[in-house]
Amino acid sequence: MTGIEKAKPVTLSDLQEMKRRGEKIACLTCYDATFTQVLESAGVELFIVGDSLGMVLMGYETTARVGMDDMVYHAANVARSGRHAYRIVDMPSQSYETPAQALVNARRLVDEGGADMVKLEGGTARVDIVRHLVQHDIPFCGHIGLLPQSVKTAGGYKVQGRDEAGARAIMEDARALQAAGADLLVMECIPADLAAEITHAVSIPTIGIGAGRHCDGQVLVLYDMLGIVSHSPPRFVKDFLRDTGTVAAAVAAYVRAVKDGSYPAAEHEY
Ligand code: KIV
Repeated sequence: MTGIEKAKPVTLSDLQEMKRRGEKIACLTCYDATFTQVLESAGVELFIVGDSLGMVLMGYETTARVGMDDMVYHAANVARSGRHAYRIVDMPSQSYETPAQALVNARRLVDEGGADMVKLEGGTARVDIVRHLVQHDIPFCGHIGLLPQSVKTAGGYKVQGRDEAGARAIMEDARALQAAGADLLVMECIPADLAAEITHAVSIPTIGIGAGRHCDGQVLVLYDMLGIVSHSPPRFVKDFLRDTGTVAAAVAAYVRAVKDGSYPAAEHEY
């Protein structure tokens, strides 16, 4: 039994309170109405309508070509049937080149897409944009470590922060985003020890994907955790459908494993 009542919408203060009392946050990506209901029934508290939808739904090789209309469409599908989970929606590549452009697009995600919060990729380089959004009352989630929108320029999908300078830069990103007003932080593909240090150093909840067991919560791309993959998945992914047999049971098993700390295990960490 978790501390959050299933009938009520999850709030940002619920998520902050979970960090304070050490209850892990179960998060998955979600892109449509039916999965919204299945995931909420299984106890998922936090959704990310991620621009990973460009790869798993739209057939792009990376997330870089996803547009604002794509994000608004999928976010609205989730918002229409969502009753409980808190919803973070990704700002797609090139939708936040300047603070003013970011604000216009973030407002669209909130007003038309029903976002509770928006997320964009990057740390210290983005603080002006983050400050501008927060000053205009847009709740904000940072995304640090591996930045999928930049994989082509960053040399591919690689674990970030393995050396001392890289780890220091990611820690600086985390502190800078918190100082700029971020209320949540997604950390992707970084060593578990670094994620643990950041989780202790900041007061906002951290949600890890390939960032080890010490984060305040975990997220996986929905299709990955159901084993619906066309390439061999990265080390941190676990197929929860294989041993459970139904989608509902797989998601419930994921939520249980995140809550009791059995996922991610050492074999999923860097
Ligand atoms: O787009 C996405 O699915 C993401 C994940 C890291 C959660 O941002």
